Amino acid sequence: MAWLPSSGLISVIYLAIIALICRWLFKLWINILQLPPGPWGIPIVGYLPWLSNKAYLDFIEIGKKYGGLFSIKLGNETVVVLNDWPTIKACLVDKSKTFSGRPFNIMVNTFGNRKDITFADGPVWQKQRNLTIKCMKNAGVGKSAIQIYILEMVDQIMDFLKQSDGKAVFLNTIIANSVFAFTWKLISSIELAENADEMKKITKHFRIILNALRSDNPVTYFPILRFCPPNGFGYWKYQKSLKKYHWFLRRVLDKYKEQSSPKYGVVDYYIEEIKQNDSKNPPYNADYLIGVMADLMVATGDTSIASTLWGFLYLVLYPEVQQKVQSELDKVIGRERLPTIEDMPRLPYLNAVTMEIYRMSSIVTLSIPHSTLEKVQVNDCVIPKRTTCIINLYAVHHDPKLWDEPELFKPERFLNEDNEVQSFPYLIPFSVGARQCIGQSLGDVELRLIFSCILHRFTLSLPENMPKPSLESTAEVSIKPLPYSVYVKCRKS
Ligand code: HEM
Repeated sequence: MAWLPSSGLISVIYLAIIALICRWLFKLWINILQLPPGPWGIPIVGYLPWLSNKAYLDFIEIGKKYGGLFSIKLGNETVVVLNDWPTIKACLVDKSKTFSGRPFNIMVNTFGNRKDITFADGPVWQKQRNLTIKCMKNAGVGKSAIQIYILEMVDQIMDFLKQSDGKAVFLNTIIANSVFAFTWKLISSIELAENADEMKKITKHFRIILNALRSDNPVTYFPILRFCPPNGFGYWKYQKSLKKYHWFLRRVLDKYKEQSSPKYGVVDYYIEEIKQNDSKNPPYNADYLIGVMADLMVATGDTSIASTLWGFLYLVLYPEVQQKVQSELDKVIGRERLPTIEDMPRLPYLNAVTMEIYRMSSIVTLSIPHSTLEKVQVNDCVIPKRTTCIINLYAVHHDPKLWDEPELFKPERFLNEDNEVQSFPYLIPFSVGARQCIGQSLGDVELRLIFSCILHRFTLSLPENMPKPSLESTAEVSIKPLPYSVYVKCRKS
């Protein structure tokens, strides 16, 4: 049989295959040796069985042995954890572009189909980020005009507190509803008021999505879990809620075709951009706009709700801090009017309190995972291209090497001897580098106005005969305190 290879040729082919396999194994071994050291897991599931739903705390423990940079096998993926400030700076600040990718995985790929800002990378991400920042500016962010909307939200909260004078109340619902209403106004000029029931449903789906998207969700790293009964480790619910969420956002866009009211939201300005550009040229079409809407609802609303709830919890747990804020407000603003954005530079203690709330709560505990866009050397280790990097912001904010008594709420740490605000480069609630949050200035203004106006008008305290609220948190992208109630007292004008 002339067409059959001779036995000599077969041997050569076998040898070539064996050589290729050996080369591949050798490279793999070298890669493993060069990776940052880390704890061993077990085959298939890696270290997942040892992680709790507070992985940021588990990583702090692991860091005690392996330091600020370690690798860990989560399911079938080896990820790298940036676990202290020097490492986060060396990666996200000093090699910002290299670390600006986002991982590909079953959870984030479906959220905005990689057409949004938060979970896209490369040119799509860059264009979406720039375009959204432009639309946000047009919608008033960064200008004092935004104050009008924020004060409307504050008024809503104050009306509720006025009616609750002398009573103990839960703050969760009123804070969530008011912040959400403000967020929606910023996003779109389409009214949602007539659909209160539908909004309740959407908010429920929203919670499910936020729970599923947290950085330590096991399905992210071990996708086979999504087939496990009874609910695929929450994946089935996530997909159902995501469908409803996207359906809702598309319906809002459809309403734009009918609307002729004045335009003022981010979406309104984005649509203007679509009209002026070629819709075949991403991101100038509805799919990309849906991605941005999906991101902004999560990023704007949920983070502000979480920070506000933590803020009021610390203020009732530390009444002496609350009283100092009130004394500063009375001295600088007086009792006749409410504080405004323009007053903020004259309220150092309030600013220090807000910074301490950011530090203590570290709401986006593990930030949003990054991915390396190329092979990169950090310290003595080599991190391969397209490695998922988890950023432990919580660890930085609770590192005793950086903060004196980090577990205590001490706003004074942000004031110098002249009672001026002093910040530190390692206060990073909004992360750092190319991916740093685009809503920092908005979030800042929102929180400072909420805290200053409410404390100007009310004193909040722990209700008598009720257990002290705990500092336990929910497991979501941005963690929140468990529901707690406060006793409300109107202050004399
Ligand atoms: C207290 C409030 C907030 C906190 C603590 C916060 C925190 C964060 C953090 C930690 C990240 C991840 C950055 C990274 O990947 O390294 C992020 C991303 C992001 N945030 Fe915020 N955020 C807040 C408010 C807002 C607001 C008000 C907006 C609205 C515009 C917003 C929009 C975004 C977007 C779009 C991203 C993705 C950026 C990107 O991937 O390029 N955030 N935020």
